[in-house]
Amino acid sequence: MTGPRKIFVKTFGCQMNVYDSERMTELLGADGFAETATMEEADVILLNTCHIREKAAEKVYSDLGRIRLVKDARRSAGKETIVTVAGCVAQAEGAEMLRRAPVVDLVVGPQSYHRLGDLVARARSEGRRIVETGFPEEDKFAALPRRAPVKAVTAFLTVQEGCDKFCTFCVVPYTRGAEFSRPVADVEGEARRLADHGVREVTLLGQNVNAYHGLGPDGRSWSLAQLIARLAAIGGIERIRYTTSHPRDMGEDLIAAHGDQPKLMPYLHLPFQAGADRILAAMNRKHTASDYLRLVARIRAARPDIALSTDIIVGFPGETEADFAATLEVVEHVGFAQAYSFKYSPRPGTPGATMADQVPDGVQVDRLHRLQELLDCQQAAFNSACVGEVIPVLFEREGRHRGQLVGRSPYLQPVHATADSALLGRVVEVAIAGAGPNSLSGVLSLGG
Ligand code: 5AD
Ligand code: SF4
Repeated sequence: MTGPRKIFVKTFGCQMNVYDSERMTELLGADGFAETATMEEADVILLNTCHIREKAAEKVYSDLGRIRLVKDARRSAGKETIVTVAGCVAQAEGAEMLRRAPVVDLVVGPQSYHRLGDLVARARSEGRRIVETGFPEEDKFAALPRRAPVKAVTAFLTVQEGCDKFCTFCVVPYTRGAEFSRPVADVEGEARRLADHGVREVTLLGQNVNAYHGLGPDGRSWSLAQLIARLAAIGGIERIRYTTSHPRDMGEDLIAAHGDQPKLMPYLHLPFQAGADRILAAMNRKHTASDYLRLVARIRAARPDIALSTDIIVGFPGETEADFAATLEVVEHVGFAQAYSFKYSPRPGTPGATMADQVPDGVQVDRLHRLQELLDCQQAAFNSACVGEVIPVLFEREGRHRGQLVGRSPYLQPVHATADSALLGRVVEVAIAGAGPNSLSGVLSLGG
């Protein structure tokens, strides 16, 4: 049987990996590969991996164990399979990956994936195992093919990559490399194509997205706020979001944009990581707890209804019970609509991994539970406060029940409502009638 060759993709980790996976699928699509959801029929199996915490990296190796069986079975049937590991585990492990996992044919880092087509072709024709984890000089984004039409209502758009902050717990500066911003014209071109194909909401992505400083059409470096203003002028784009931000890079113009720019959604993911100043200093965060609280007050002054989200780490080396109490205090003070919290996980090669006073797992687990209890309460309170309100919802997809659509509120909550599928891609007023821990439900508002 001959048909198009197939690629199976599994994505771990952050939204930037979701974006990269889409682009890699497109890249191989241009070489005639069709995407499949069935690993057993794939000529190329691609894992796009995450190295941020130990568990994320371990999952890759356990998946590779299963993939070995698939590759063996295919080989017995006379079919060849190129097993590719991309993303941050690929970058961090490099050639070590080939030693640890003999099933792997190709290891490709996040800054080299625009060469994926050639690399796959070489792995096949030369029958060689290849590692490509350099930080090449050429602009990866410029080397990628034009973005293929998408059918979705919302899309991610990477505008910035890498990080120069070097928080002592984090692998990103090592795996993603130095900070890089795409030129405004490139981002605008990509956003226009997305809008032409029906995308109504873009989420601008970057590890440190608010440090964006891309080349503007006037030859100067533009801020994220300027980029957002430019994208807001694209007719089809109705909503703009961005993630992830660092408190140090929350510029005056970006804060003001939350008050002035109606297309910029009232939601901000702003990690603070820890509440005790000595832990923040050990983390090399370059801000104190009170800096963070003052910043939140300024953002709320610009946009009082903004929903705040954050990342928090418990059990960083040296964290005492009093330090942890300071983290709870910041959470109490801010009131988050949503949050991600993690046990500190030592990452090889980062300064944190060799610091004294690593916190035992039992203590970390206990603190994480207490923190998550508080965060869950805050999220439930935020959702409940929406009941009785009429909220504009952008419908994104069909729901699980017939006749139901699912969309997002401006505050990023999923909202379920009975609605005609003709409303997909439209912003519709919904009267919120119910709130769960993670979502809202409502009915279309008459006259809305
Ligand atoms: N251990 C635990 N959490 C981490 N994060 C990053 N590195 C680590 C680590 N070594 C968390 C931070 C970051 C989020 C993406 O992941 O909170 O903001
Ligand atoms: Fe990692 Fe974010 Fe710190 Fe950069 S700012 S080192 S990506 S946690």
